[in-house]
Amino acid sequence: MRRLLIAGNWKMNCGPYDAAELLEGLKAKKSEVNENVDVLVCPPFVSIGMAVKYLYDTDIQVGAQNLHFEENGAFTGEISGSMLTESGCNYVIIGHSERRQYFGETDETVNQRTKKALEHKLAPIICVGESLSQRKADEHYDLVKDQITNALNGVSAEEVLDIVIAYEPIWAIGTGETASPEQAQEMHEHIRNVVANLYSQDAADSINILYGGSMKPANAQELLSQADVDGGLIGGASLDADSFSEIITIAEELA
Ligand code: 13P
Repeated sequence: MRRLLIAGNWKMNCGPYDAAELLEGLKAKKSEVNENVDVLVCPPFVSIGMAVKYLYDTDIQVGAQNLHFEENGAFTGEISGSMLTESGCNYVIIGHSERRQYFGETDETVNQRTKKALEHKLAPIICVGESLSQRKADEHYDLVKDQITNALNGVSAEEVLDIVIAYEPIWAIGTGETASPEQAQEMHEHIRNVVANLYSQDAADSINILYGGSMKPANAQELLSQADVDGGLIGGASLDADSFSEIITIAEELA
């Protein structure tokens, strides 16, 4: 039985002061979460410490938005897996489309980062998804299959159980436009089949597949009630304590 995961990706928002305010609000509304739902916030690196401090006595976990694939050394501006675990993270987002688009992230670096995260017992949330032109050209299924196959290259059957995949159609990110529940379900089912073919049906059945792209309280219920949608990776709506906790409540009611 898969648990639902509601994860907030704060992106480049909320330094420590704003983070404290948002966390205060979230804590007031949702420090305890139904046991069948996992909740996670992924602040920018500089606010991770603040989040860990505020959330230590709640059911809300803390993750990061990226990690470097080397252990340590002369990599100015980068953050390693051990730094994240030491800071109190247990998840890390990898290969978000904004990183692929603006920071040269490739399937190969996504794979390197995934393996490094697993080494450090950080659960990777691997992001995949197509652009509008790729969907219009009917390339989206093949593209997502390739993204997953490449990301998981060299990941063992045991390790894959710790992985979360987030399907985030680029055309739905920050645009207010969401995939329809049917579009989300179709792609999530496809992703599960890809994992089944690469590993086993058991692995496919246990892996969490999140939907991301303009998820908000108004559409969360229909998206989260799809058979293969196991949670959400939420950008804009996770920056508002009311909206994010409403989505958590919707997940609790479905779990
Ligand atoms: P929005 O919820 O703002 O569309 O962002 C989705 C996303 O990119 C989460 O990683």
